[in-house]
Amino acid sequence: MASSLLKKHSPFEDHATFLLPDPPSSPATLRNLKFPFLFSFIFISSLCITCFTFLDVSTSFFTATNTSLLSEHGPAVIILSFDGFRFGYHLKAPTPNIRRLIASGTSAEEGLIPVFPTLTFPNHYSIATGLFPPHHGIINNYFPNPADPSDWFSPSNHDPKWWLGEPLWQTVARHGLNAATYFWAGSEVKKGFWTCPPKFCLKFNYSVPFEERVDTILGYFDLPKKEIPLLSMIYFQDPDSEGHMYGPDHPEITKAVANVDAVIGRLISGLEKRGLFEDVTIILLGDHGMASTCDEKCVFLDELAPWVQIERDWLECADSLLAIRPPSGVSSAEVVKKMNEGLNSGKIGNGRSLKVYLKEDLPERFHYAGSGRIPPIVGVVEEGYMVKYKREKRYDCGGSHGYDNLLMSMRSFFVAHGPRFERGKKIPSFLNIEIYNLVTTILGLKGAPNNGSASFPDSVLLK
Ligand SMILES: *[C@@H]1O[C@H](CO)[C@@H](O)[C@H](O)[C@H]1NC(C)=O
Ligand SMILES: *[C@@H]1O[C@H](CO)[C@@H](O)[C@H](O)[C@H]1NC(C)=O
Ligand SMILES: *[C@@H]1O[C@H](CO)[C@@H](O)[C@H](O)[C@H]1NC(C)=O
Ligand SMILES: [Zn+2]
Repeated sequence: MASSLLKKHSPFEDHATFLLPDPPSSPATLRNLKFPFLFSFIFISSLCITCFTFLDVSTSFFTATNTSLLSEHGPAVIILSFDGFRFGYHLKAPTPNIRRLIASGTSAEEGLIPVFPTLTFPNHYSIATGLFPPHHGIINNYFPNPADPSDWFSPSNHDPKWWLGEPLWQTVARHGLNAATYFWAGSEVKKGFWTCPPKFCLKFNYSVPFEERVDTILGYFDLPKKEIPLLSMIYFQDPDSEGHMYGPDHPEITKAVANVDAVIGRLISGLEKRGLFEDVTIILLGDHGMASTCDEKCVFLDELAPWVQIERDWLECADSLLAIRPPSGVSSAEVVKKMNEGLNSGKIGNGRSLKVYLKEDLPERFHYAGSGRIPPIVGVVEEGYMVKYKREKRYDCGGSHGYDNLLMSMRSFFVAHGPRFERGKKIPSFLNIEIYNLVTTILGLKGAPNNGSASFPDSVLLK
């Protein structure tokens, strides 16, 4: 049944680690962590219909009603993230609301570039902090503590020791102002001035309907003026769920994209009813794209045995990304050399689709070396291929991500509408670490040090 299959594809359960081997030595703790997620998230597909015709004239009339409504702390920003919203998806279905925001706002002409690895948690936290994964600490969706291999990070782990850097909600709180988060990766972690206040920091629950998420955020704008959150960040798990199960070119994606558009329409009309649509900045984005995968595009590591015997429990991650930590006493350099010899020999199925590196030898543009949390050996997989320890079953065709962040298929979208964004403007693609400075600039707040460029906001925003 579709719903039970979808359940499996919670972003908190999917990709890399879902494919972790389950060796006797692979920590039982990891499995214990995974199970509560598997069964507690029930996917509820959400449909909501709120499309109506847009008239420039009517919105400027609304604006006239009250531009000063939010002026106590300046402008408000709402960021909506749609997991796995591959760049171009908005052309798959009628998307009147996304198109409206593109036409009357600023958008990245060829999409938003994710960070490597193109996975959900590293990317959501790069968007929030402006940092590359080694600097914000979330280098994968699941990974062990290098100092204690039985201590694994998982998305449900809110111990601040894992989550480095200063995410946007914390920056807002540092200025004594309200921020609201709705399921954003890392938002339940209490650190700095951020206490994850129950009213403005919702605890992750996969089955909360999308309409309810939007309505909750809209409700904040009915609060007394000084309580209105300056920044709201909301997460939606679609269309990633459908992308994994069906691949990026399936009619189910078209449906999911239409649903997402209706959710955006609901936000727009809620703001219009309050006379706030022209005053509040809306940013639409996603964490990464999606590539088609299929059984015949797998590489099996056990075929490398004639060159090097890789043990299951050396693998921290195997799928669209390979991460290997050999035990002490085994030379990582030697393992890399032997693996690449085997992979290039022509004798390993799809061998040439996997390139294995010592992490310090990865191309610099990946920014994926400067953390002890990243294991010594990283394998980069070609678009649409997957690495497995060994063949255990037939792998259904579907979709995955985690690949090279420069692949077009890994790009997501960026659309922004609000007083600081020029109408109908198209900007070149940019890395999602630039979002942090963009948002702090709109909010007029001093941000924390990060990897975004200081000049980016001026190149995009109206004065
Ligand atoms: C806008 O809001 C301010 C502050 O709440 C209020 O003083 C002013 O009268 C409002 N203006 C209009 C046109 O409603
Ligand atoms: C999650 O949300 C659903 C739908 O709103 C609700 O029925 C359920 O009780 C929630 N679960 C928890 C643990 O709060
Ligand atoms: C990224 O930002 C961190 C924190 O400011 C800094 O330590 C690091 O050198 C930066 N890296 C790059 C590549 O800019
Ligand atoms: Zn995913």
